[in-house]
Parts: sequence; C-alpha cells; structure tokens
Amino acid sequence: MTAYHQLVGADQVHGSLYQDPGVFAEEMRQIFSRGWVFVGHESEVAEPGQWVTRRIGRAPMILVRDRSGALNVLANRCSHRGTALCWEHRGSDSSFQCTYHAWNFALDGTLRAVPYPAGFEKDHAALGLDRAGQVESYRGFVFANLDGSAGSLADHLGIGGSDMIDRLCDLSPTGSIGLGPNWLGHAVGSNWKMWPESDNDGYHLNWVHASMVSSAPDTYYQETVLGGESGNQSRAVDWGDGHVELDFRPSYRRELAWLGTSRDKVPGYCAALESARGVPAAARLLWDGPPHGLIFPNLFLGELNIAIIEPIAADRMVHWHTAVQFEGVDESFNRRLLRQSEAAMGPAAFIVPDDAITAERMQLAMSATSIDDAEARRGWVDMSRGLGREERGPDGRRAALISDETTNRGFWRQYRTVMAR
Ligand code: FES
Ligand SMILES: [Fe+2]
Repeated sequence: MTAYHQLVGADQVHGSLYQDPGVFAEEMRQIFSRGWVFVGHESEVAEPGQWVTRRIGRAPMILVRDRSGALNVLANRCSHRGTALCWEHRGSDSSFQCTYHAWNFALDGTLRAVPYPAGFEKDHAALGLDRAGQVESYRGFVFANLDGSAGSLADHLGIGGSDMIDRLCDLSPTGSIGLGPNWLGHAVGSNWKMWPESDNDGYHLNWVHASMVSSAPDTYYQETVLGGESGNQSRAVDWGDGHVELDFRPSYRRELAWLGTSRDKVPGYCAALESARGVPAAARLLWDGPPHGLIFPNLFLGELNIAIIEPIAADRMVHWHTAVQFEGVDESFNRRLLRQSEAAMGPAAFIVPDDAITAERMQLAMSATSIDDAEARRGWVDMSRGLGREERGPDGRRAALISDETTNRGFWRQYRTVMAR
C-alpha cells in the first residue's frame, strides 16, 4: 500500500501521485468505488425509459429512469458474456437488449427474457445487471456509490456541497435547474487531479488565461480574480470533505455582474425570481450569482456550467461540460446562458483549452517522477501559498485570499484521508 501520509503533506504533494499507474488503480477503488460520485442530473432522464451513459471511475454505467419513475445506475455490461448494452451517450428505450445473444433486460436491470431458455438452469433473478450500491439525488443532482457502503449522501455533501448546490438551484425561479442540450468533452493527456486543482485555482488567471483577459477586458473576472491580490475581496475557501470554492461574492460591485448584464436587459427573469423568492431574497441572489467550486471528487460547479471530471488512466482524462439552464424563464434567457457557457468553456473558447495545455505540460514534467524520488527530496509539488494566512470559520471552513492555494490544499487533504483509509 502506498504511503499516502508521506506523499501528501500540508503544503506539498509528490509528483508520482499524478503519474503512477498503481496509484491510479488505488484511486479508482478508494475514491471512485467506495465513495459518492456525481453521475448526472435528473433532467437528463426526466421520462421513463430515458438513459445516459456515464462512468463511475473506469466502470461504464447507465443512468436510467424506469417505468415506476425510479432512478437506476446499472452496469453497462450484459450479465451474459459482458457486451456493452448502450454505446451512444443517451437514448430512450423500453428495455435494454444485448446485441450479442439478445438477452433482454428491464429498465431496472432485471433479466426479462433470453432466447432458447430451456438451456439455462440458473434462476433469472440471479442474472440481472450489476448496479450501484447506493443512488441518491440532491436537488436534481444524482450521485451514486458503487460499493454501497459510503454512508448518506447528505454526510458526503456536508455543509459546503449542499450550500453550493442550493445557491445554484435557488437562482432558478422554480428552484430547479436543467442542463444544456448536450455534454462536450475535452480529452486531455493529463491526470484527472489537475482539474479539481485548476478549476479551483485563483492564482493562474493572469497568465494561463492572458489571452482571455486581453480579449475580453470587461468581464467580471477583472473585479473577482484579477488585479493586485491585496485589494481583492474574493476568497479561496476550503469547506472541508474535499469540497472547495472560489467565492467571488465579496467582490461583485453590482447585481447581475456574473451574468454580464443588468436588470433592464433581463426583466422577465428578475420578475420571475422576485415573485418566487420575494424581493429581498431575489435581490441577494441577483447580486451573489452562482458558485464556482468542486464537489469532491468529480463535480465542478463552474458558475453557469456543470463539469464532470472523468479519469481514464494515470495520464489521460476527459473534462465534460454542459450549460446550466433555468426553469421558469423564457427561451431567450436560457439561450443567453448557453451562449455564455460556449464562450467560456467550448473548444473555440478560452478557458478549458488553455487549462488543458497547462495540464498536459504538468503531466509531461511529472512523467518520470517515481515514488522512490520522494525520500530523495525530488519531484515535489509546492502548494504552500497563503498557508500562514488562512482564517478558520466557526463551521470549520478555511478561507484565504483568492490567489492562495487553500482550495488545492483542501482537495488534497480529503484525498489523503480517503486514500490512506
Ligand atoms: S453477451 Fe449479451 S446476450 Fe450474450
Ligand atoms: Fe484556468
């Protein structure tokens, strides 16, 4: 067993953790099989029969709503000889039929029928699809745990995870969000952990995203993350349990800055929010906007984007994202959200492509780092920025300047706890 307590320190982590295949295999077990993982949103499978394919760690899974309306997270693997049942990203069916020998499965994973049944002595009940041990959702966000012994989802989300999801959903007049028409994936030659890091790193914007900063000088990033750090009121927050946030709220100087607009341009949305929440609460929401943070280990709430961090191998991953859509607003408002998401995250946009190049450069630099280097004091990654100026809140949360590495340390603290378990 790898000595995670030695390889993850309070202010540094060892580079081998980004590239060692044995570490990757242990992560798939300790983090992705034993813990809660985000799999999708209820709106993706709103009707019985609708399904999407996802992975939990490396395991191919199907999220499907069955005829009773219940959500199932099933192995995308025929229980006969192991053929994948679904090979598109999404679809709608009344059952799953394997293409090899035509075994037929109900939407809840039970085996319904096999051709030439006389040849089988086994009970059909024992030949249903494998399934996640636990499936729960919180305000439409569906999480699953493969092993079935991860405790409650509420415990996993803690204060920080539920607070961030609440703040996003409360911005929708109905209290529920939907997702954009599809997910877009960036396949990156990097370890998956570079993404919880960079998605929540408030230190790199001026350099990695210099082209965005110079091309679009009037965005809210000017007041929330850029400029001199001493005058910046935004905070890097470690909520505990690996959930971390770049909290821009203290920096906004006007309402709707996060949407790049003002009340007179989106009067329908503002009126709908006021009638749903009341005028004072709506005013607060319009000022604060959506969160920017990670729900450990694989869900990134990127303001008006939702992203899934999907590990493939020690040096490969996919960063999936889609736009947030609100319920109870007119179509033109949701189109605005979609356009804003495309401008931020898409392949012709600035943010993810620039971060992807940086992640691949990190991977290149770490590619020969071995666990044996740790004792020889080679191959360490420094993560000490701002450690001495973190403030502890009464609920245990840690906060420091937006440019401090509090968020990265928060992710790694949970990583160490889970991996050393
Ligand atoms: S492998 Fe699926 S029916 Fe044979
Ligand atoms: Fe970035």
